[in-house]
Amino acid sequence: MIKLLSHLAHLEIASPDVDASARFYEEKFGMRIVDRLDGRVYLRCWGDYYHYSLVVVPGAEPALAAMAWRVTSPEALDTAVSNIEEHGVTGTWAASGHRHGKAYTFTGPYGHTMKLFWDVDRFEADADHASIYPDRPEKRSSHAAAPRFLDHVTVASSDVRGFAKWYSGTLGFRTMAFVDLDEAPITVFSVLTTNEKSHDLGVVKDTSSRAGRVNHIAFWVDTHEDLLRTADVLMENGTPMEYGPSIHGVGEQNFLYFREPSGLRVELNSGGYRNYVPDWEPNTWKPSEGSNNFYRNGAMPHSMTESFPQAEGFTATEEGASDEMKAALLNPYAVQGRG
Ligand SMILES: [Fe+2]
Repeated sequence: MIKLLSHLAHLEIASPDVDASARFYEEKFGMRIVDRLDGRVYLRCWGDYYHYSLVVVPGAEPALAAMAWRVTSPEALDTAVSNIEEHGVTGTWAASGHRHGKAYTFTGPYGHTMKLFWDVDRFEADADHASIYPDRPEKRSSHAAAPRFLDHVTVASSDVRGFAKWYSGTLGFRTMAFVDLDEAPITVFSVLTTNEKSHDLGVVKDTSSRAGRVNHIAFWVDTHEDLLRTADVLMENGTPMEYGPSIHGVGEQNFLYFREPSGLRVELNSGGYRNYVPDWEPNTWKPSEGSNNFYRNGAMPHSMTESFPQAEGFTATEEGASDEMKAALLNPYAVQGRG
């Protein structure tokens, strides 16, 4: 298959309070609001090459409204759409979107809405934001906790291996790793990528009956020190760390997780490997190998198993889980399979 997708371009997330969420991303997380249109707020990181990487849209519950990938060429867009439709999914074309050209939007077999486009406006900074580095879209933020750019999205699916198979078979994502529980042959996590990173698309096991959910969205900083400073600045300004800072085994990124005002989980990453192997064969990790917390010295909080929108009557151990999953969820070292 020719390479179809280039990278994750932006995420559209729903929030019951768009202004509160947008204010959080701007004031506490160091992103910048660049557009407001029809109740939607468009934000960018200082290193994003296009105008925006995050769109906060109105919605009754925190949710992933859409994930948008840029394809590698106009021809790749047509090939990707043919592949999608040959795999039994039909989407819709739009002549254009906000600051991008024609786009194909479809909902995949596990309920996640994805948008693909080629034509997109490059960001060009005004005089106040222009960098002295010709390749930088904007000068580095002076905010103490500012991510460089969007990194990945991790969704939830009832069938992790089925999800990985569909997205690799249809759109050419490379599947980089799986995590199966120690206690039972249940796959709880996988990472997929369109490029050299360990993942720009993650998928966790969803034991609820709600399709199309999201576990977290993730941004990038250049160094581990940047990540630690972000944790410090967020903590001092009233945002607790849900998990981390620590380091994932899968992908080898430094990580931390926190929540934005809607409750949606946000991750920050730095480091990690680069992998260019075109015929990479994914390893299957066990949580006991440190798939999530490589130091194996800190249990993942049960709250991390929550995805969005919430399932009815959510508790971390009762979200429609099988007996094996419940047992695993109750073992604090067993559910370290997400990244
Ligand atoms: Fe992640």
